[in-house]
Amino acid sequence: MSVRQGQVAVITGAASGIGRGMAEHAAKLGLRLVLADRDQAGLDDLAGELRASGCEVLARVTDVASEADLAALRDAALAQFGGVDLLFNNAGVMQTGASWELSAAQWQRMLDINLVGVINGLRVFMPTLLAQGRPAHVINTASLAGLLTSPFLAAYTVTKQALVALSEVLHHEMVALGSPVGVSVLCPGPVASRIMASDQGGEGAGAALGAVLEQSIRQGMPADELAQIVFQAIDEKRFWILPHPDFKPALQARTQSILDETNPVFLMADV
Ligand code: NAI
Repeated sequence: MSVRQGQVAVITGAASGIGRGMAEHAAKLGLRLVLADRDQAGLDDLAGELRASGCEVLARVTDVASEADLAALRDAALAQFGGVDLLFNNAGVMQTGASWELSAAQWQRMLDINLVGVINGLRVFMPTLLAQGRPAHVINTASLAGLLTSPFLAAYTVTKQALVALSEVLHHEMVALGSPVGVSVLCPGPVASRIMASDQGGEGAGAALGAVLEQSIRQGMPADELAQIVFQAIDEKRFWILPHPDFKPALQARTQSILDETNPVFLMADV
């Protein structure tokens, strides 16, 4: 859909990293913003910065794992702005560690935030987007880990692969309904952010991977550069957003190994 001044964007996980980059870019385009995060201080900081630049902002502490929190966010957004045009289901956390060593609580946290958080976002906002009967766009932040697999990243990978599938199904559903609501799935490689601070991995088998990820994320693509790529994809109504083309040969190799029924080979650390 064509992004225009005055449209309303809802962004979860807005207070840091990728979400913050999206918010700052959207503000420059003249969008009105609904910012959601569980980090009150980060939200306040971003909202202050954007309001000072003239942007209309609604900022609300929200835990995406809570459907009630997201419903309250939607109600507040509709009360203030009257509609929603863009929905960024972006909030997420990291977890390294061997599949069998992660605790039940660690698995549950990943599922609740990274996967159920997006399901909640869709359950709460899709009826509104569909009822509006006008173009809108949903962007789900998955990861390259939604397309590739790495050792010692099971919980994160499981949630991100599920998000890619969920997004693809949603796209098919919008097409089947003839709906003007578009869908994109964002699958970035390393982007500079604070995500490794959310990793509860310790000294176990995932520690080495954690160190590699930490470094590649520190040197990752700046979030403002990523935001430009994402907004261009929205304008083009493009489903797949793969901002790191250098990972495409690994994706091609994985697809070929599935078709050839040869065993998976881990080529490189991905996020
Ligand atoms: P970040 O840690 O800098 O930002 C994530 C934000 O989400 C934080 O402000 C955090 O407070 C918020 N958040 C976490 N749990 C939440 C919850 N339950 N409810 C509401 N807000 C919550 O990390 P980053 O990297 O910006 O992550 C954003 C998304 O991008 C995540 O889904 C992540 O998996 C994904 N991603 C990140 C990559 C990277 O290299 N940084 C690469 C691929 C995907």
